[in-house]
Amino acid sequence: MLLRRLRRLVLAAAILACPGLSGTVPGTVAPEPKGTRPARHHEVLGLENVHDLGHGILCGGEPQGDAGFAALEAMGVRTLLSVDGMEPDLERARGRGMRYVHVPIGYDGVGTNALRRLAKAVSTLPGPFYIHCHHGRHRGPAAAAAVARALHRWTAPQASAWLATAGTDPRYAGLHRDATNALPIPPDEIVRIADPLPERTPVEPLVRTMVAVDHEFEALRSLRGNAFGPSSEAAAASAMATRLSELFREAARLEGSGPAGAELRHGLTEAAEEASRLAVQLGTARDPSDTEKTFRKLTESCVRCHRSHRDPPATP
Ligand code: HEC
Repeated sequence: MLLRRLRRLVLAAAILACPGLSGTVPGTVAPEPKGTRPARHHEVLGLENVHDLGHGILCGGEPQGDAGFAALEAMGVRTLLSVDGMEPDLERARGRGMRYVHVPIGYDGVGTNALRRLAKAVSTLPGPFYIHCHHGRHRGPAAAAAVARALHRWTAPQASAWLATAGTDPRYAGLHRDATNALPIPPDEIVRIADPLPERTPVEPLVRTMVAVDHEFEALRSLRGNAFGPSSEAAAASAMATRLSELFREAARLEGSGPAGAELRHGLTEAAEEASRLAVQLGTARDPSDTEKTFRKLTESCVRCHRSHRDPPATP
């Protein structure tokens, strides 16, 4: 088992080892009844939510810095498949002799074209494979399940059980649909897939901006609590909120005309205003409960907009 091997290496190196890893990561995913507790987090230094699906396929979150890539190298991973919009860290991957294939997908589904590319990559490039999205919760697990359905005879219930284990939100109906409905792709069909397998795929400017929004927002959230009252971190948090506001304004400028565009622009402008308000509150060390309230409103604006503009399943 790849993870067991990693664990030995990790323990030997006396790095962080998560007790959850021991014996809890099966070679094939044990079906869990629907609606049980969310995924166990197998924290490995530099990686989050790592799972071993068997068949030389691992799934998890973005490798973070050298530690993340070192962990992947220790597991023997040769090929990384990223399915999110973030630009892959090609330099670190190449430095450790690993190859990237970047197949960005949305939250609305895996889609046939992306699955063909992923299946071709897993059939023709050297494994083991690490399929990842940002946190390894939604898009990565769905893509991994679709690949396992397409190439390794996973059944639909197996795919559903895995998504429950990974903690994939049921709200992403398109991801669930495509993971469970993916059809087997026979070897002679794989041979005929002519799609390229790029290391990096350009993404839409809005996706790029959202990746930056997400990065800034996470940094800000990590200061939540401490920096929300008068504290030495408040100035840094305020600067983050200002950058968030600028990113939202930039995103609003990117959005074209038309009714859908106008609605999205409006939402983005509102989020920009909320972020500016937060920056001022953090900068003036106001009552932390006010700041907390604004932070929550900003968080709600992400969720609300994604529900109407990002997540609904695309019609098949
Ligand atoms: C008014 C609308 C709106 C708001 C507000 C908004 N987003 Fe988004 N976001 C979108 C849309 C639309 C997409 C999908 C873009 C696409 O795939 O074309 C998206 C995509 C994303 C993605 C996926 C990027 C990828 O890898 O594909 C992340 C992450 C994200 N948003 C984070 C956030 C966070 C965090 C916030 C709040 C702090 C936020 N967004 C607020 C509209 C919004």
